[in-house]
Amino acid sequence: MQREKWGSKIGFILAAAGSAIGLGNIWKFPYIAGANGGAAFVFLYLISIILIGVPVLFAEILIGRTTNRNPVGAFKKLSNGSPFWTSIGGLGVLAGFLILSYYAVVAGWAVGYVVEAARGVFYDFPTPDAAGRHFNALIGNVYWIVGYFALFMAITMAFVLFGVQKGIEKGSKIMMPILFILLIVLVVRGLTLDGASEGMRFLWNPDWSKVTGQTILLALGQAFFTLSLGMGAMLTYGSYMSKKDNIPISGLEIVALDTAIAILAGIAIFTAVFATGQSPNAGPGLIFHTLPVVFTKMPGGYIFSILFFILLTIAAVTSAISLLEVITAYFVDEKGWHRKKAVMIFGGITFLLGLPSALSYNVMADFRIFGLNFFDFIDFISANILLPVGGLFISIFVAYFWGFDKAIPNLKQGAENLFDKNHWLESYWKVFLKFFAPVLILIVLLSSIGII
Ligand code: TRP
Repeated sequence: MQREKWGSKIGFILAAAGSAIGLGNIWKFPYIAGANGGAAFVFLYLISIILIGVPVLFAEILIGRTTNRNPVGAFKKLSNGSPFWTSIGGLGVLAGFLILSYYAVVAGWAVGYVVEAARGVFYDFPTPDAAGRHFNALIGNVYWIVGYFALFMAITMAFVLFGVQKGIEKGSKIMMPILFILLIVLVVRGLTLDGASEGMRFLWNPDWSKVTGQTILLALGQAFFTLSLGMGAMLTYGSYMSKKDNIPISGLEIVALDTAIAILAGIAIFTAVFATGQSPNAGPGLIFHTLPVVFTKMPGGYIFSILFFILLTIAAVTSAISLLEVITAYFVDEKGWHRKKAVMIFGGITFLLGLPSALSYNVMADFRIFGLNFFDFIDFISANILLPVGGLFISIFVAYFWGFDKAIPNLKQGAENLFDKNHWLESYWKVFLKFFAPVLILIVLLSSIGII
């Protein structure tokens, strides 16, 4: 059977941007930027993208496109069957599994909040505290949290079931433009509110006094997470690419879209938060405690609240699709399974694995592993350990084992003109992948496990 591939270049870019643009952009980026010095954080974040985001992104897409395989098959092929490198690919598949299991729980909240918004219940909870209590009551309800988690998993599985072109690509081509339009609508609404400028000042006023070593680590970690790096999602999407496609240009387009969406989300959120007199320092509660109140206080808020949670849901779906696709590609490529069987079985197992994460907010709230509830534990293991470990070994593999002698000619395929005209590009990629990326990722990893 012939392996699937993208139907068009834009299909790949939208699918990969869909993977990158997720809860991390709409939820996490605005509040960590807000809490860590505004423009000062945005600046550090952009530097981090250049230092580690772009070089590792090119490396992942390249490994995929060169081998036309899932992460396990790709490492196996390029390392001539080395068990160590093959297991690095396996770590990626495992990380995909773990991340999807709790990411889909949070994504379920977004789906549930589309319904809450449409029911108009935000008007019953006029303060962030009251809205927060309502939120806690919802996630404390086993049926609510598990129900929307299951619904979200079913939606994700439906897209992956239809395959690369008819499911993932087609879905991305429909959902991503909707996401862009919704966000633009919300940005315009935010900017035209009375008092919006205060939100802009909050986001753009660089407060360097808030910048510490910890801030730099946060910026590096966010740059890495937001581009879906370290577990082979971009590798797998790259594996459906044609040799005629231009990896650096496509990669930079993905980065530009991802960064633009994160910044626009920050603008949409903080203009509205300040214009309605709310406090921005709500941390992770920003979206589910503060924003519902913000919507009740702004003209047209009912409609905008529905649009916002649809936006959040779409961002999460296109990311979750890429996570499930990594697992699916592994069983299709390596075990010769039918796509349908892989999606049904591993979608199902991911749901079972996610159940204790969903129950962490209610019946299993007291269950602790190393002092963390199940949800936080899985989040910590996957995002703080497996992703940096994966990213570290991906850089080391390309720079030191596979080697630039072999990697560069492959990277140049489809991008000959670009490299002819921009000699610095080759040096940039080599130097940053060889030195900056591994060292900085290692520092992030050591700090997240508390060694430094
Ligand atoms: N990039 C996604 C976001 O910003 C989250 C994410 C991290 C991810 N790693 C991933 C998504 C791997 C898909 C695959 O929300």
